[in-house]
Amino acid sequence: MILGVMAKPPLSMKPTGWFQVAWSDEVAVGDVHRMKYFDREMIAWRAQSGQLTVMDAYCEHLGAHLGFGGHVVGEVIQCPFHGWQWNHEGRNVCIPYQDRPNRGRRMRTYPVVERNASVYIWHDAEGRAPHFDVPDIFADFGDKTAADYYPQQRLFREQLELHPQYVLENGVDFAHFKFVHQTPIVPVFTRHDFGEPWSYVDFTITFEGDDAQKIEDVNSGVEAINGGLGIAVTKSWGMIDNRTISAVTPVDDRTSDVRFMVYIGRTPGRDDQKTADRARLFGDEVIRQFTQDIHIWSHQRYSDPPALATAEYEGFTAIRKWAMQFYPDGLGGSAADLATRG
Ligand code: FES
Ligand SMILES: [Fe+2]
Repeated sequence: MILGVMAKPPLSMKPTGWFQVAWSDEVAVGDVHRMKYFDREMIAWRAQSGQLTVMDAYCEHLGAHLGFGGHVVGEVIQCPFHGWQWNHEGRNVCIPYQDRPNRGRRMRTYPVVERNASVYIWHDAEGRAPHFDVPDIFADFGDKTAADYYPQQRLFREQLELHPQYVLENGVDFAHFKFVHQTPIVPVFTRHDFGEPWSYVDFTITFEGDDAQKIEDVNSGVEAINGGLGIAVTKSWGMIDNRTISAVTPVDDRTSDVRFMVYIGRTPGRDDQKTADRARLFGDEVIRQFTQDIHIWSHQRYSDPPALATAEYEGFTAIRKWAMQFYPDGLGGSAADLATRG
């Protein structure tokens, strides 16, 4: 990757919210998993009871990295350097060569939610507690459960030079569908609701037929819930039953990891391999379409304020204004700022 030719995102890479840092099955009981997000070395470890903890990686004693030789002992993690033990709250519970632990020092831990096979952490630069929840791809659409779908298909792309907000702005970007995803006609939005930390975007879209069809005759669409800037879940209707999760997490001040997950609905009464294979191929196609977006995002220069067509103004202004609440340092874009003052 030649960083010099790319464009560093002008938006803060330390937004507040829930962000995916792993998949649950990457951290089995007893595992210590290394990762870097928000410019910090972190570890995820799973206790004997199954409880998952995400904390900063460096031991508060003399600074050993717990991801290199730290190990899980029951419900605590033990440092490889001098054997100090830390619990899931980051508190020191044992110094092996002293009768009392150090009660004052604490490892920084992060609120964790495991949902839809993902591990999400709450990030807030000022350490404030979560003030909204992680969307659930089944419960929050209120209809089906994981049992109605084949297992999740995944895409993982590391350290791309893009910002989580690029991915969410895609949701109000009606014009790109025709050009990036070759939809026959431009989709039409039926809902834009940016009143809360969760925002809702619904649109009518088809991937079939030709450009002579009218949008009024299209009987398919997508509903999306954005849970802050880090997570977007979608449900499709009127087409092959699919749900997706896109999750974008800043790694440092230039790059983000992108995870994308697809669930394809099972066909009632059809448990055969051929049906499962067809579902897998369709899931691959949904992932392929997402990589078309990634190709644009990972090379784009964020345009702010952007040159917008008249019909684009409302959606982009609404989402950029909504996004500002997740930037404690106020870096949310001048278009959003203008919208707030205007
Ligand atoms: S550095 Fe961790 S116990 Fe000493
Ligand atoms: Fe797209």
